[in-house]
Amino acid sequence: MDGNGRWAGARHLPRLAGHQAGAKAAEKIIMRAQQKNIPFLTLYAFSAENWSRPQEEIDGLMKLLAQTLTRYTRTAADRNIRLWVSGERAPLPIELLKQIDEAVNQTAGNTGLTLNLALNYGARQEITHAANAALAAGEKEFTPQILSRYLYHPDLPDPELIIRTSGEERLSNFLLWQAAYSEFYFTPTLWPDFNEKEFDNALTAYAARTRRFGNI
Ligand code: FPP
Repeated sequence: MDGNGRWAGARHLPRLAGHQAGAKAAEKIIMRAQQKNIPFLTLYAFSAENWSRPQEEIDGLMKLLAQTLTRYTRTAADRNIRLWVSGERAPLPIELLKQIDEAVNQTAGNTGLTLNLALNYGARQEITHAANAALAAGEKEFTPQILSRYLYHPDLPDPELIIRTSGEERLSNFLLWQAAYSEFYFTPTLWPDFNEKEFDNALTAYAARTRRFGNI
């Protein structure tokens, strides 16, 4: 969800206003994903590297994430959304962690869209976590299949499509393991301006791709 800061800067607003607008855009895309019967949607909400941002922005983002989670939990039951979170728990604020646990538990039985929030997420951290968890469980060797079982959510399917907004064309430590055969869609649109039409365009572009998975 890239480009919130630049969106705000262009309007002479504080960066947090960009994140607030970004949260609204996320809401639209979640609804659209549901309409399109997409089973899994992962949103990169806070990266393990985002802690290096100014404290004021981090505090604002944590507050916004808490508010967003409250709203999602309230509406998740009606909308049949199952909420998952991928990332390291420490050092997320204890109140936010409590809220995450409640939201995940309350929505565990929902059978519609699985909304996976990547929160304090880094792919290298996830792969390292998986290796350590595999060792702790007594695994004697690593294979792709074995390591996959120890990722944050072993049942999270590999993403078919990864969308990055704001003109950035890199992965930035996002789902490195799972993205081995993902298709990529880059758009210059800043995340707060990313709407249903833009999302549909990305899906149309994806539908035109030929996926070979190493085959001919
Ligand atoms: C990247 O844009 C965006 C973030 C680091 C935060 C994303 C978080 C939200 C939209 C909050 C809402 C949360 C949910 C779960 C919907 P940037 O700040 O790096 O933008 P820039 O590249 O223009 O500076």
